Formats: sequence, structure tokens, C-alpha cells
Amino acid sequence: MSETQSTYNYKVVRQFAIMTVIWGIVGMLVGVIIAAQLVWPELNLGFLHFGRLRPLHTNAVIFAFGGCALFATSYYVVQRTCHTRLFSDGLAAFTFWGWQLVIVLAAVTLPLGMTSGKEYAELEWPIDILITLVWVAYAVVFFGTIAKRKVSHIYVANWFYGGFILAVALLHVVNSAEIPVTLTKSYSAYAGVQDAMVQWWYGHNAVGFFLTAGFLGMMYYFVPKQAERPVYSYRLSVVHFWALIFTYMWAGPHHLHYTALPDWTQSVGMLFSLILLAPSWGGMINGVMTLSGAWHKLRDDPILKFLITSLSFYGMSTFEGPMMAIKTVNALSHYTDWTVGHVHSGALGWVAMISIGSIYYLLPRLFGKSEMFSVRLITVHFWVATIGVVLYIASMWISGVMQGLMWRAVNADGTLTYSFVESVKASYPFWAIRFLGGVLFLTGMLVMAYNMFKTIAGGRSVDDARVLVPAAHHA
Ligand code: HEM
Ligand code: HEM
Repeated sequence: MSETQSTYNYKVVRQFAIMTVIWGIVGMLVGVIIAAQLVWPELNLGFLHFGRLRPLHTNAVIFAFGGCALFATSYYVVQRTCHTRLFSDGLAAFTFWGWQLVIVLAAVTLPLGMTSGKEYAELEWPIDILITLVWVAYAVVFFGTIAKRKVSHIYVANWFYGGFILAVALLHVVNSAEIPVTLTKSYSAYAGVQDAMVQWWYGHNAVGFFLTAGFLGMMYYFVPKQAERPVYSYRLSVVHFWALIFTYMWAGPHHLHYTALPDWTQSVGMLFSLILLAPSWGGMINGVMTLSGAWHKLRDDPILKFLITSLSFYGMSTFEGPMMAIKTVNALSHYTDWTVGHVHSGALGWVAMISIGSIYYLLPRLFGKSEMFSVRLITVHFWVATIGVVLYIASMWISGVMQGLMWRAVNADGTLTYSFVESVKASYPFWAIRFLGGVLFLTGMLVMAYNMFKTIAGGRSVDDARVLVPAAHHA
């Protein structure tokens, strides 16, 4: 082994890391506002009503908050594990500014009601084209870096990030095929049930690849790093990768149970959803067991607390999902708050918590510090966030099951026992609890922002790191 000095591109990682926290606050603030609108309908003011703000929330938390976390961590991980600088600084900068432009355009167009009407793919065609350009640049930077790596091995985290980048490119291009009529309006290239099928093939894989595979990349890098232990089973991680990416692709029809979709297609979706439990839990167990022999670290390391708790929520939501995919269970859960609770046990418990833990790991390293400005405040953040998620999902379970049961209740003469509005009225207390859970989670993000800016203020931007390069690779 000989030692060489190498400079990484941490600038783009810093930019995306800071924006993760900022967009997290913005997106969750909008979440809190729409949660409040459900409790106090008079808050639906002008064009900022629930129908306009809801897609703004989902786009901001998934693509702005989650997206920036994925860019930041993938750029960091691919450089560190490949022992080389990013393939192109210029293209990396383009992905940063291009992605921020996409987010700003979303924030302007969605409240104005400009939408293609497809959930999680609402943005209109000119923005879709911009997304495609940014994504191609992202793929070139990421795979270009892998291609010029200084070590022969490609660490498993990069497999997950790479799978996520390729799958999202495919999903976006196929589902966004549309016919523009004006600059701000287009119609889907597909019609009827085919349109629904393509949309939920996209929608479910947006969960599987955007909200899961990339975050599993985070898990495979940051959990072992923070625990200072090797991954529990490297062999399991490879099986996990192939099983997960193969299975996810077929599960989309579980979003379309009891619709005009052919019955067999719904059954295929249900079956693959049930199979999906195995790779999901394989990955979760691999992450949690990485802590073998280091469990005591959980006691006083709040970053590890975030990472491991996120895996518990991942396990929970990937158990709940397959159950909800069973047609008879879905007959109860569909259209109810149960779905919303499931979504947020994945989104807040898994996606947000693993991102938060990973960004806490990154910030001191990017700003030349040995740790965050205040470790105590990370602990405060952890508890406030955990209580927030629990309040959110527990209230949604109760209201969801209650709504489902009220809607199907019939009297002896066959008439409905409850009117729809009675179920809405009965949901209010639970929506108030969800609002409180959201406020807590958002408060935690504000604590994080304070801690982040204090860390930055007391530090300096660092771009270099000493790396060991095996002599054999100098040739
Ligand atoms: C094994 C894994 C999973 C399976 C089989 C699964 C299954 C399901 C099912 C059956 C639904 C309800 C569909 C409906 O009635 O309309 C659903 C909804 C949803 N799930 Fe999951 N889920 C899984 C994991 C996750 C995770 C980890 C997340 C988040 C990170 C997530 C995010 C969502 C979202 C966003 C929706 C709502 C989609 C919509 O209607 O807008 N799921 N999932
Ligand atoms: C402070 C935190 C948050 C609050 C208060 C919040 C609140 C809400 C509310 C009120 C809704 C609408 C539910 C309905 O239509 O009845 C919603 C939907 C949604 N949120 Fe959040 N949210 C938060 C964080 C997040 C995060 C971090 C993510 C993703 C990473 C996320 C993803 C979603 C998704 C995918 C939906 C659509 C669910 C569906 O169609 O079933 N949320 N959120």
C-alpha cells in the first residue's frame, strides 16, 4: 500500500446536504399546513387550499428533501468507496442547480394548479424534460466515477444507488410520455386502464427505487461506518439487492385492486407484494445485525439511534405493505387513513430518519469538525422525531380502520349505517393528533437546522481526505 493525496469533490455534497435540511423543513411545513387544513377547514385560503398544497407537499418531501439527501450521500459514498474524485465537477454542479430549478418550478406551478394529474408525476412536460436532463447528468457522474475507480471492488452501497438511478430514469421516461397541448398542459400518451397500470407501475417503483433502494445504499454505508462494524453479511447484501430489484417491478397492481384492471394482474401484484416481504426483511436484518457486538453504542450515540430506528420503521412498513396488498385487507384499507399512516411510517420513520442520521454523519466531516455543534441537540431531535412519528402513524391506524369499518357497516335492511360525513366527523380527533405529531417532527427539523448552521459557522469547508491506494492500482 502506498499513500497518495487525493481531493474529493465535497462541494456538491455540502450543497446537497444543506438543501436536504432546508427542503425538509419546507416540505414538512407544507405537510403540517395540510394536516391543519384537515382539522380546521377554514384554513383553505384562496389558491393555497388542500388540493393544491397536497401535491406540493409530496413533491417537496420526496423529490426535494429525499432527492437532495440521495444526491448528497451518493456523491459522497461513491467517491469514498471508489477512492476517486467525481467523474465531472461541471456535470455535478449542473445536477445541483438543475435539481434546485426543478424544485422551484414545482413550487411555483403546483399551487397554480398546473398538473399532469398523475400522482408523484404531477409536473408538466417542460419540467419533465429538465428532470430527464438532470438525471442523465447524474447517471454520467455516478457511473463515470465508478468507471474510474481506484479499487477493483464495487461496494454494495453503490449497487443500490446505481439501481435506483437506472430504475428512476426508466420509470420517469415511460410514465411521463405525454402529448403537450400548451406550454403548461399535456395529456398522457396512454389511455384508460393502461394509463392507470403504467402510472402505478411507476408509483410503486417510485416507492421501491426512489424511496427505498437509494436509502438502502445509505444504510449499507452509514450504518457500518457509524457502528464501526463491517456489514453483518456481505453475501446477504448481494442476494438482497437482486431479490429486491427483481420483485419490486411487479407489485404495482396492488394499488389498483378492485378496479377495471384484469383480475389476474391484481393477483400478480398481490403475490409479488407478499414475496417482497422476504428481501425487505433480509435487508433490514442485515442492517440491524451489523450492530452485533456494538449494541451498547446505541445507548449514547444519537446518530446510530436515528439509523437503527429507521430500520425498525422500514421493517414495520414493509410488513404492513404486503398485508395491505392482500385483496381482502385492501378492501378495508383502501381510501382510508390507514394508507396515509403506512405511507408515513415509511416516509417519516424510514426515509426521513435514515436521511437525518446520514446527514448528521456527513456534516462535521464536510466542515472540518470532529462532531456536530451539539450532540445533545441530536438526542433531542431524535426523541422529538420519534414521538412525532408514533403519534402520526398510531392516529392514522385508528382513524383508517374506523373509517373502513364505518363505510362498510350496513343495517338489517341493507342501507348504510353511517353517512360519509359522519365518518369525516369521527376522524377529527385523529387528524388533530396527526397534526401534533407533524408539528413535533417539524420542530426536530428546526433543531437540526440550528445545529447545522452552528456547526458550519464554527467549521470550514474541507475538500481533501487522505486515502490509501493499493500499490497494485497505480499501474
Ligand atoms: C414490501 C414493501 C411494501 C409493500 C408490499 C407496500 C404495499 C402497499 C400497499 C398495498 C399500499 C396501498 C395501496 C392502495 O390501497 O391504494 C401502499 C401504499 C403506499 N405505500 Fe407501500 N408498501 C411497501 C413499502 C412501502 C415503503 C417502505 C414506503 C415508503 C417509503 C411505502 C410508500 C407507500 C406510498 C407512498 C403509498 C401510497 C400510494 C398512493 O396511493 O398515493 N410503501 N403500499
Ligand atoms: C411533518 C411531517 C409531515 C406531515 C405533517 C405530513 C402530512 C401529510 C398529510 C396531511 C398528507 C395528506 C393526507 C391525506 O390526503 O389525507 C400527506 C400526504 C403524503 N405525505 Fe406527508 N407529511 C409529513 C412528512 C412527509 C415526508 C417526510 C414524506 C416523504 C418522504 C411524506 C410523504 C407523503 C406522501 C407520499 C403523501 C401521499 C399519501 C397518499 O397518497 O396516500 N410526508 N402528508
